[in-house]
Amino acid sequence: MSAEPSEFATLKFRDKEVVLPVVTGTEGEKGLDITGLRKSTGLVALDPGFVNTASCYSQITYIDGEKGILRYRGIPIEELVQKVMFVDVAYLLVHGELPDEETRREFSSQLNTNSLIHEDMRHFFDHFPKGSHPMHILSTMINAMAAFYPNVDIKSMADNIDQSCARVISIVRTMAAFAYKKSIGEPVVYPRYDLSYCANFLNMMFDSPVKPYQIRPEIVRLLNILFIIHADHEQNCSTSAVRVIGSAQVNLYATISAGISALSGPLHGGANQAVIEMLRTIQEDGDINKFIRMAKDKNNPFRLMGFGHRVYKTYDPRAAIVRGECEKFFHQYKYSDPLLDVARKVEEIALTDPYFIERHLYPNVDFYTGILYRAIGIPENMFTVMFALARLPGWVAHWREMIGDSTKLVRPRQIYSGRGLRHISPPDAGD
Ligand code: CMC
Repeated sequence: MSAEPSEFATLKFRDKEVVLPVVTGTEGEKGLDITGLRKSTGLVALDPGFVNTASCYSQITYIDGEKGILRYRGIPIEELVQKVMFVDVAYLLVHGELPDEETRREFSSQLNTNSLIHEDMRHFFDHFPKGSHPMHILSTMINAMAAFYPNVDIKSMADNIDQSCARVISIVRTMAAFAYKKSIGEPVVYPRYDLSYCANFLNMMFDSPVKPYQIRPEIVRLLNILFIIHADHEQNCSTSAVRVIGSAQVNLYATISAGISALSGPLHGGANQAVIEMLRTIQEDGDINKFIRMAKDKNNPFRLMGFGHRVYKTYDPRAAIVRGECEKFFHQYKYSDPLLDVARKVEEIALTDPYFIERHLYPNVDFYTGILYRAIGIPENMFTVMFALARLPGWVAHWREMIGDSTKLVRPRQIYSGRGLRHISPPDAGD
């Protein structure tokens, strides 16, 4: 929370002047505090898409979209991917500090003991139609958890907050792997106590009774990096969904399910799958410039997927990390993927095209992640699920922060633009 405001803005409306405080964030960012606006003027603020609206104070993640800065709890994303594991970042986001060795052991053990799905929930997986998208399965299953685990009211969950947070972070990983195994008709693989978070997930995804999975440290390392860069991104669409739904004091599972649903959209987390589909279409067609022209054509709904961002007006720092890791990994392990060549060319053309330059459209986090996921064997319909697994600590941290503040029920206003008052005509006589 900022200190007492030292700056003010004056709003003049008709014969009234209202003085509005200007609040200042840790990094000097300014915001006009309009909490008293309606009371003093009768006016509401209209801001479709919340493009200019800060919905809360938050101490979790800092982004500077102009400079391409991303920090979790003050620590730059570039340092986190180099120096710690995803589980450490999960703890950092939820609890505010990186864990020491002892705390890390306890947290890992808590994740392990909470990683099993209630056995009675297993048969649910059998009844989704073949070909169901794993994101739909995941949001349904998470929502169903409230029926299987006791004490889901907000007070009980807040009283057992560490347990509630650990359970949801850990169990979603198991559910994601189970959903995948079911979708390919293989027996599910249970989590193992001896494996790290990412290795455990890979093992649940790819181990089979007839072909044991060989865990490769370089793949585990990559997955850690991918999970870390996705772990939080302040008030993005799905996190805002979590905060909005959570403000009604619904249980944590329903809240996370809402986040997963929001994330599934192609303008949000669904973009990583959409990027690969787009790159494949471009590769098959062979004419990259045609797609660049289509993306610029206002009469064509086509957009360059994996490009542009609401906040970043420069290269997304997460995209820079993924692109670097992609190049390193492909070179070191002699991988090749024709889609990486297409992606490089699309980026090169777009970044020198005035349309993209003027609008500050750069690759975002989703542009290269799908290529890395393909390289480590993750099927395309699981890409957005990977994003959801990684974003779990962020959602949980925001939920925790929100219930810790005395946040009001989120209930925006509107400007009504429908029909004026009218009445139902009396029925015709004789009807
Ligand atoms: N291709 C072509 N034109 C674009 C694109 C794009 N990918 N993105 C934005 N523009 C244009 C847009 O048409 C508009 O042009 P004009 O000013 O002439 O009307 C201008 O750039 C500003 O765009 P906007 O739609 O007002 O910007 P926004 O902040 O509302 O949208 C966005 C952000 C991410 C939804 C958008 O850039 C987009 O649709 N990108 C493609 C989808 C995508 O990659 N999504 C992943 C986002 S990052 C990860 C995540 O959040 O999950």
